[in-house]
Amino acid sequence: MICQNDNHLTQLVNKAKTLTKNGKVADYIPALAEANKADLSIAIYSVEGACLKAGEVQTTFTLQSISKVLSLALVLMDHGQEYVFNRVGMEPTGDPFNSIAKLETIKPSKPLNPMINAGALAVTNMIKGKTKDEKIERLLAFIQTLTNNSSVSVCERVARSEFNHAWLNRSMCYFLKEHGIIEGDVEALMEVYTKQCAIEMNCYDLAKIGAVLALNGVHPDTKEQVIPERIARLCKTFMVTCGMYNASGEFAIKVGIPAKSGVAGGILAIVPNKYGIGVYGPALDERGNSIAGCKLLEMISEEHSLSIF
Ligand code: DON
Repeated sequence: MICQNDNHLTQLVNKAKTLTKNGKVADYIPALAEANKADLSIAIYSVEGACLKAGEVQTTFTLQSISKVLSLALVLMDHGQEYVFNRVGMEPTGDPFNSIAKLETIKPSKPLNPMINAGALAVTNMIKGKTKDEKIERLLAFIQTLTNNSSVSVCERVARSEFNHAWLNRSMCYFLKEHGIIEGDVEALMEVYTKQCAIEMNCYDLAKIGAVLALNGVHPDTKEQVIPERIARLCKTFMVTCGMYNASGEFAIKVGIPAKSGVAGGILAIVPNKYGIGVYGPALDERGNSIAGCKLLEMISEEHSLSIF
């Protein structure tokens, strides 16, 4: 097991924690501004079922963009690759996560990848279900299977807070509708999307999701294939190329493992065949990634030569 024990991991957390003062909690979703900027916690779940933890690991947070990896896995299971990639691309953007610019400049107009907001909105629109409630319930049930925890749920307060302020995401939806990428009611899509982003858990649950992906879709607890191998690999590839947005290149150089961040401060990271890692640190850098969380992963990766490259 890396990091020997919880004590050593706690030392690394305390070191990385000093960076939290240089970051800023997200406030464009008002409910996220209530987070404690100094928090930093981590869980490392080995595929054999051992777990190392440090920091306030019981603290829960909303997945935000981390959910994009999981909605992508679900729609690929629902529809297959051809259907999905006719509506969303496979290329990194080098733009911020919420940029709308390339929707206009790229022809034919389709979001460049499923990790940016525009692409994730298109993906969420593809979740199968007769009603908006059925769609979010299917995604939540899938995530409960991955965490092996049926108490994982939607934080309605955070969902509502985003729903009431998501003008840029709404603009992207209308743009996507104009170009035939999505159909149906934009307000219903926004409801599913904001609830998806507000699915809440702690870093232990998140680390377990990472362990499923580390095992290419086999659940470490139940040994069941809960995501087809090809889809699990595809999700990890997107995490490497686009998971940290316009910091994905730097993260690949400094840390070198598939990862996905969210603006609530979570990071899901994967050491293939070995570990799932869940990090929470709500102080963000200017690109929307957990500032201390990235540093902590960098220190652990360096110490244990975790880079896949
Ligand atoms: O759509 C949004 O803006 C948020 N619900 C999610 C953005 C996000 O987490 C970007 N990640 N770093």
